[in-house]
Amino acid sequence: MRVLMIAPPGAGKGTQGAVIAAHFDIPHIATGDLLRDHVARQTELGRAVKERLDRGELVPDEVVLDMVREAFVAAKAAGGGYVLDGIPRNMKQARAAYLIGRELGMTANVALHLKASDDELMRRLLARAALEHRSDDTEEVIRRRLDLYHEVTHPIVAWYGERGILVSVDAMRPAERVGRQILTALEVMRPLVDHVPEEARRPVDLTSLGVAFGETS
Ligand code: AP5
Repeated sequence: MRVLMIAPPGAGKGTQGAVIAAHFDIPHIATGDLLRDHVARQTELGRAVKERLDRGELVPDEVVLDMVREAFVAAKAAGGGYVLDGIPRNMKQARAAYLIGRELGMTANVALHLKASDDELMRRLLARAALEHRSDDTEEVIRRRLDLYHEVTHPIVAWYGERGILVSVDAMRPAERVGRQILTALEVMRPLVDHVPEEARRPVDLTSLGVAFGETS
């Protein structure tokens, strides 16, 4: 299973990425975590990107694309599956990640779009700020991250729709229910993803099909 997630800050990429990775026993490649690890270790790269992370700005495309290439090579050696969290963030990254995947024979077969309102996302991230003290979880920086998502990230959702690999999920419900719906949908698709040619696929919108895809009420 090769999944990429496209979702605003706080929608649950990290939470659901871990669920998907554990369920399918595949690597969870989270660019934000990789970057924060560099910052914490004060590597050259970490020092170069720290200010951008603190301000909620994107780091240069080349930095994250190098990380993704390296992670894809490792994922290939480990069986070829992955769940991508935090990339792509704009159209250039989307196309570049696709080309890296094609070169390695491991393009994504599902683009998972987690949908949630800005008010709910702000609420979640401010709640996390009280517990975890992430440097970009202040109201002003969260607003900037949300604005950037709407400006440059959200428009690429349509591209995955055109490619027929888009699965949209309502992420406003409790995390466990969202996770159950995602896993049920991915399990249904599992036998198909490797056998249906990309051009024959159609976008899947699960946002109004909760009961059929893992919802209990
Ligand atoms: P990144 O780490 O990717 O941050 P983000 O996109 O802002 O997302 P978050 O980690 O805040 O949220 P999430 O969607 O993962 O939700 P989570 O599961 O954690 O990126 C950080 C920075 O790195 C960027 O701003 C940028 O500077 C840089 N960067 C990273 N990738 C880049 C790229 N490709 N190009 C350029 N720059 C890049 O959940 C959030 C909170 O909500 C948690 O407390 C969780 O417990 C809670 N929660 C989750 N789901 C639910 C639910 N369903 N109901 C209630 N609470 C929930």
